[in-house]
Amino acid sequence: MPLVSLRQLLDHAAEHRYGIPAFNVNNLEQVKAIMAAADETDSPVIMQGSAGARKYAGEAYLRHLILAAVEAHPHVPVVMHQDHGASPAVCVQAIRSGFSSVMMDGSLLADAKTPSSYDYNVDTTRLVVEMAHAVGVSVEGELGVLGSLETLAGGKEDGHGAEGAMTREQLLTDPAQAADFVNSTHVDALAIAIGTSHGAYKFTRKPDGEILAISRIKEIHARIPNTHLVMHGSSSVPQEWLAVIREFGGEMPETWGVPVEQIQEGIRNGVRKVNIDTDIRLAMTGAMRRTLARKRSEFDPRKILKEAQLAAKVLCRERYEAFGCAGMGPRIRAVPLEDMAARYAERALAPVIR
Ligand code: G3H
Ligand code: 13P
Ligand code: ZN
Repeated sequence: MPLVSLRQLLDHAAEHRYGIPAFNVNNLEQVKAIMAAADETDSPVIMQGSAGARKYAGEAYLRHLILAAVEAHPHVPVVMHQDHGASPAVCVQAIRSGFSSVMMDGSLLADAKTPSSYDYNVDTTRLVVEMAHAVGVSVEGELGVLGSLETLAGGKEDGHGAEGAMTREQLLTDPAQAADFVNSTHVDALAIAIGTSHGAYKFTRKPDGEILAISRIKEIHARIPNTHLVMHGSSSVPQEWLAVIREFGGEMPETWGVPVEQIQEGIRNGVRKVNIDTDIRLAMTGAMRRTLARKRSEFDPRKILKEAQLAAKVLCRERYEAFGCAGMGPRIRAVPLEDMAARYAERALAPVIR
């Protein structure tokens, strides 16, 4: 099957009321783990590359790893998505290199750390939508700034995120503004801010409604029920993997992520794409530490990476099952990007805002 567009998968997910994990990828082991889990559960796949992934792997390796996955698993629908495009130029580059979906993150300026004005966000996102839709590529936008409602700090941990102190208002997407944003830009999916942030240190305690605003998802969904919502910073930071990392020499202070049940509540309220990077990192690091400690004479990296791959696969499988994705892959027939472009041109995919 050729690459499919994000819009096609999210429309299917909305129709059948499930969510799709969007896993960040940087290397062969992550790609293989995600594909193995998708294969075992018959799930559709979204793999995304961040600016950090481009820096680590390089664009060509990243692209070919994902295309290799498509070749190795021809029956699995796969989206190749640009995560947090910091400018229209980054998005155009991704489109040119064959990505079927891009994120224009105009919530920050092109430096990826300064919160932007609303008008800047609308203008840059609309520009990317015009270019991307012309070739059938879908676009995710972001409104609101990712960051902690506990500390009112932006999330800088992964090299992408607002710097300095924020207000609670900036950290929570406004439903009325979300409606105006979708109406003005025609994005296919909207990333919203509800108190999550990237990385392992999201919450200092198991989150409640004060610091993880699932209620805000409900308000936004009530206002724009036909828009696919995206939750960033959605790793659950499994306590079991933290324990393994600590047991085998790692140093990680107490921390909490987004509980899977809260994500499921989000999915019941319009969340269709769930971004996960950190959980795979934690599982792989835990598995590698444990293998290195237990098999002290092992010098073949493949033996160590095989354990990391297995740990990542189990984690991905759990998320596919928990989000209702399992069994959906074979029900999807790829719509060519040219056909998606034609539908956008007829305005058949324009947002419906009440
Ligand atoms: O966008 C968030 C991801 O966790 C990316 O992190 O830039 O370290 O690859 P990264
Ligand atoms: P996590 O750091 O919670 O895995 O979030 C990843 C993400 O949002 C990528 O865009
Ligand atoms: Zn993100």
